[in-house]
Amino acid sequence: MERCLYAPGLGYYSAGRLKFGQHGDFVTAPELGSLFARCVARALAPALKACGEDATWFELGGGSGAFARDCLLALQTLDALPKHYWLLEPSADLRQRQRECLQHELPADVFARCAWLDRPPQHAWSGVLFANEVLDALPVTRFTLRDGEVFEEHVGLTGNGAFVRQDRPTDPLVAGAVRNLQRRLGFDFEDGYRSEVLPQLPWWLEAIAGEQQSGAALFVDYGYVRREFYLPERRDGTLLCHYRHRAHADPFVLPGLQDITASVDFTALAEAGVGAGFELVSYAFQSEFLIASGLDAEFAAAYDATDNEATRYGLAQQVKRLTLPGEMGERFQCMLLARGLDTGSEFAPMVAIDRSERL
Ligand SMILES: C[S@@+](CC[C@H](N)C(=O)[O-])C[C@H]1O[C@@H](n2cnc3c(N)ncnc32)[C@H](O)[C@@H]1O
Repeated sequence: MERCLYAPGLGYYSAGRLKFGQHGDFVTAPELGSLFARCVARALAPALKACGEDATWFELGGGSGAFARDCLLALQTLDALPKHYWLLEPSADLRQRQRECLQHELPADVFARCAWLDRPPQHAWSGVLFANEVLDALPVTRFTLRDGEVFEEHVGLTGNGAFVRQDRPTDPLVAGAVRNLQRRLGFDFEDGYRSEVLPQLPWWLEAIAGEQQSGAALFVDYGYVRREFYLPERRDGTLLCHYRHRAHADPFVLPGLQDITASVDFTALAEAGVGAGFELVSYAFQSEFLIASGLDAEFAAAYDATDNEATRYGLAQQVKRLTLPGEMGERFQCMLLARGLDTGSEFAPMVAIDRSERL
């Protein structure tokens, strides 16, 4: 998965093909229009303001740059522009696209706040950490159980050069992660059960957010709470590939040309967040999160700002895609973490919709 997505020049995220939007492979919430970014900006502006004049917005995996553009424009109207807007983007091609998008579409004084990082910040900072559909792109480990032993899925070659899945006994880290999962779930996986695990998640989060002194972290992605992720009947995990708006489960098709993802275990994310010293503020469906962040007001403002019926229809479609349960509304979930902030007052609407008891 790592090589298919990130091999320099060849990986899905490293090579130059168009990925997002109607002509790409999938559509993300920021690519639908500006409503998503405007709501996220409204939700997190109080946290940014509470962090003072030097506050930073730190976006992981900025895609085409659409989110950064719409979020910065919204923050400007909310009088909450951060001093810096950092983007951490492993793909050189996407970095270039982000730079072009932001340079052309933002006022010069706003663009001047944008900077691209080569690695997570190594010095203290405060503000907002944000990632939409990034956790699902982290390379996962696939495991299976045989006679109670944990095996890890590898990729081999057949005699005629085709890829083939191979299960091999795993190392103690993965075996320990799977045993830990079973302990926490309260049952053992059946023989032949296959799924994914992300044992490196706590270290990854620590590396990304270790220097964040105060502020918020918002992760938006598709996924499940742990007991739903590891349902006994979900016997082949959640690995999914996307190519030109088709989804299937064969990672050996068009390596480097198709996206490969896995759902997020939000219980594991909450544990990693709390382990890294964050407070869990809220866990909610994307629909609830956006509505609590003023989706109706943002929709009404955008609707009233035009008398073009096609634009108005497009806005209504955007709301549907973002909120309907069968679209992104419930498949996508939002986890808000905070550190060193008064979460009761800064995030009252988010606390009100919190469903973290489901974790
Ligand atoms: C599915 S795209 C989502 C893009 C954008 N956030 C959006 O919602 O349109 C995944 C993004 O995460 C980036 N990415 C993948 N792994 C990453 C990592 N370890 N750290 C930061 N960004 C990463 C990809 O290059 C890409 O920009």
